[in-house]
Amino acid sequence: EGFNKRQEISSMPGVFRYTINRLSQIVDRAIKKKIPMVALFPKTQNVRKDELGTESLNEKNLVCSAIIEIKKKYKNQIGIMCDVALDPYTSHGHDGLIKSNIILNDETIEVLINQSLLQAEMGCDVLAPSDMMDGRVGAIRAALDDAGHKNVQIMAYAAKYSSSFYGPFREAVGAGTSLGKAGKSTYQMDPANGDEAMHEIALDLAEGADMVIIKPGMPYLDILARAKAEFGVPCVAYQVSGEYSMLCASFENGWLTRERTIQELMICFKRAGADAIMTYFAPEIAKMLRQS
Ligand code: PBG
Repeated sequence: EGFNKRQEISSMPGVFRYTINRLSQIVDRAIKKKIPMVALFPKTQNVRKDELGTESLNEKNLVCSAIIEIKKKYKNQIGIMCDVALDPYTSHGHDGLIKSNIILNDETIEVLINQSLLQAEMGCDVLAPSDMMDGRVGAIRAALDDAGHKNVQIMAYAAKYSSSFYGPFREAVGAGTSLGKAGKSTYQMDPANGDEAMHEIALDLAEGADMVIIKPGMPYLDILARAKAEFGVPCVAYQVSGEYSMLCASFENGWLTRERTIQELMICFKRAGADAIMTYFAPEIAKMLRQS
């Protein structure tokens, strides 16, 4: 929010929040480096947050304005991916609507459908339902098709674990303080359970997902390898904020060698079966790849 600002995120050195007018700074760089897609995440002002996440449906919200700005300037030179979930917009910080401390699965779907249609309307190329609960992929696919958005793809956060590694991201989007000590373990998956990921992936594919995310990355390579072997569909590894922060801390202390470590990790994702990798190191990796 605001004009001409670039804000630091203390737990993610080198990652910043940008105001819309400064987005071209990073999108230019991404295009030059042949990064195929950028993911947009908003930090909504607290005054705009409420129990129902109403701001998610405001056509002038940050994500919508950012999509319009990028598409206006760059057309289809780069893809845009957006999360479909309510956590950047709810006062309680959860991904869905809640009542008496229970997440309301079906009621949330209605809002997510409208959020998806809005983002598709603005020009988003890939929608990523990130609350990973039941039935939204199918419902969103049907709504997109009905509205003529047949080419908008769905990247399902199918295997998303309830993980401590999301901490820095929650700080970055300002959902951490709202969430407080409450976790998301009633709707994200139990790290001890590998079979459930296969079940969740099968459901999302049956509902029409074009590709599936396995998340976090490094600690869940076994899940990635299983998913690729069992389903053979496009699998996306998501190296999340906590992994990034952990590595940066080691690099800053001189405990790990930056370039070699990042490269090794990328190779490991590919070895395990990743067709695509989402990572905060993307600009750096693109540079290394070009040099080699
Ligand atoms: C929100 C969302 C999260 C991430 C992506 N989308 C956090 C969460 O589920 O609490 C994590 C990204 C990261 O840690 O880099 N639905």
